[in-house]
Amino acid sequence: MKSIIDILDFTVEELDELIATALDIIDNPNKYAHICDGKKLATLFFEPSTRTRLSFEAAMYELGGNVLGFSEANSSSAAKGESIADTAKTVSCYADIIAMRHPKEGAAFVAANNASIPVINAGDGGHCHPTQTLADLLTIRREKGRFNNLTVGLCGDLKFGRTVHSLINALSRYSNIKFVLISPEELKLPSYVKKDILQKNNIPYEQTTDLEAAMPKLDILYMTRVQRERFFNEEDYLRLKDSYILTPDKLKNAKSDLSILHPLPRVNEISVAIDNDPRACYFKQVLNGKYMRMALILKLLKEAGTI
Ligand code: NCD
Repeated sequence: MKSIIDILDFTVEELDELIATALDIIDNPNKYAHICDGKKLATLFFEPSTRTRLSFEAAMYELGGNVLGFSEANSSSAAKGESIADTAKTVSCYADIIAMRHPKEGAAFVAANNASIPVINAGDGGHCHPTQTLADLLTIRREKGRFNNLTVGLCGDLKFGRTVHSLINALSRYSNIKFVLISPEELKLPSYVKKDILQKNNIPYEQTTDLEAAMPKLDILYMTRVQRERFFNEEDYLRLKDSYILTPDKLKNAKSDLSILHPLPRVNEISVAIDNDPRACYFKQVLNGKYMRMALILKLLKEAGTI
């Protein structure tokens, strides 16, 4: 049973296939409107979400399927002390595929080991978030037309930002990628990501605290929110939350074809004055996420022999 816990669970070829399917869905939505008739997606969200959960739900509806699930831990038996393993076994009796978000790193892995249907990791703590990366990849493909020869700036909370960890994993397999890691000292990329991905694959990267100095060389700027819910104390959060605020002024020295991405939700990191700049791609990214989740559901259900 194939589940997706980490973006590296897919080969580069499989990611290409998913992108090709998503592009075909964009062009021919009717072709896909009934493929999942009668099938059910369970969305098990133990943590808040707007885009990820609703885009999974919209994706399944647009494929003709149905959705069941919960959107907070307190409304599930987790509040009574049920284990992730038992929840996964239970939901396997009701649904054909699971999308799960949980505050604990490794939760989706445990669910996948106990479910008899495919499990999709919709975010596990500060670890990873592979389906956001699918949205990011389709956005990069549509905006830039390529995954190689790119200088990618990642800015904000690189420590707890799971979308950043997954995106680095995904891009590490293409050629001539350079990363500029822009964060406050306290929110630097975890050393396991640096060692296991960047250093192991000889990927050039620099670390800086200075967004404006890095700006001129960037092809992509991936802004992130400071992850308040993963902090141990509120004081640190308050001190760090506004470390980077992208305003039109800060884009003065940016490339004219820069692509500005953000997984959203945005708090203060990007001024709304940027939203109408042609370089702002974050709402396109939202829509791309739905198409990629459609492609992903199709792939996993086909592999499971469900459709
Ligand atoms: C991200 C997440 O949940 O990690 N949101 C999302 O799924 N688009 C980013 C975040 O919460 O900051």
